[in-house]
Amino acid sequence: MTVSTAWQALRKPIRKAVFPVAGMGTRFLPATKAIPKEMLPIIDRPLIQYAVDEAREAGIEQLIFVTGRGKTAIVEHFDTAFELERTLSDRGKDLSILDPTRILPGNLVTVRQQVPMGLGHAIWCARAIVGDEPFAIFLPDELMIGTPGCMKEMVDAYNEVGGNLISVLEVPEEEVSSYGVIAPGARVSDKLTEVTGLVEKPKRENAPSNLIISGRYILQPEVMRTLEGQEKGAGGEIQLTDAMARMIGSQPFHAVTFTGRRFDCGSKAGFVEATLALALERPDMADDVRAIMRRLLAQ
Ligand code: G1P
Repeated sequence: MTVSTAWQALRKPIRKAVFPVAGMGTRFLPATKAIPKEMLPIIDRPLIQYAVDEAREAGIEQLIFVTGRGKTAIVEHFDTAFELERTLSDRGKDLSILDPTRILPGNLVTVRQQVPMGLGHAIWCARAIVGDEPFAIFLPDELMIGTPGCMKEMVDAYNEVGGNLISVLEVPEEEVSSYGVIAPGARVSDKLTEVTGLVEKPKRENAPSNLIISGRYILQPEVMRTLEGQEKGAGGEIQLTDAMARMIGSQPFHAVTFTGRRFDCGSKAGFVEATLALALERPDMADDVRAIMRRLLAQ
């Protein structure tokens, strides 16, 4: 056995994904007063469904939701709705529309983040469930559309290089201060670049590049121990980016440039953009929506 095949044999598959969904969704108030932001629909599927579909496509089995007060609708969405199914089947309706919401027993776990202390703290709240395995993270606000999906591309890259991976994309320089930004190192392939540094929400003039972290991660379990002692960072919050930055050097870190499209559904304009873009791709709606858009633009 060569060194690299030995490392491959040791490499654990990515079976678990953490979805931090405890945020209060203040940017979408009053819509999010009683409904979790992640349940707002892009056409007819809630935002969280897109992230879960992407996770499953990548082979992830266990979903770990880091939730908070008022977020039970997310768990309900992935539960069996007996009365609904009974009613649909009594009426001879097709139940397959509900298939994406079905989770194997035991494969959905929730933990609570009792206080909003930042993304790093939210991830750390899942440490007992993640255990000693590498795991994925999905920020559901970032809607990634592609074939294959973003996480599938990342898992494929992980199977080659192992270690830690983050998805990145280029943004205009004036936007870098809203994101985590990477310092890129050597280019490994078209899609894969080494990461030599990470900064959360830098000022434009201090940003090491315009490549931002776009909400998908594959991390080794050691990040949980790093998060344990993590000081507050940007915005007075415990930042995942800061913990990852401290791991660079002791573990491989790569950035994957996603070849599909990304919609920032944390912003209202991005949400509308995603809705329109996906509607224009749906055979059941595209013609109607195109006609509506033309009419609106002509006014
Ligand atoms: C978080 C991360 C940031 C990342 C961003 C992507 O920031 O901390 O590194 O670039 O998500 O959306 P937040 O949007 O929670 O401020």
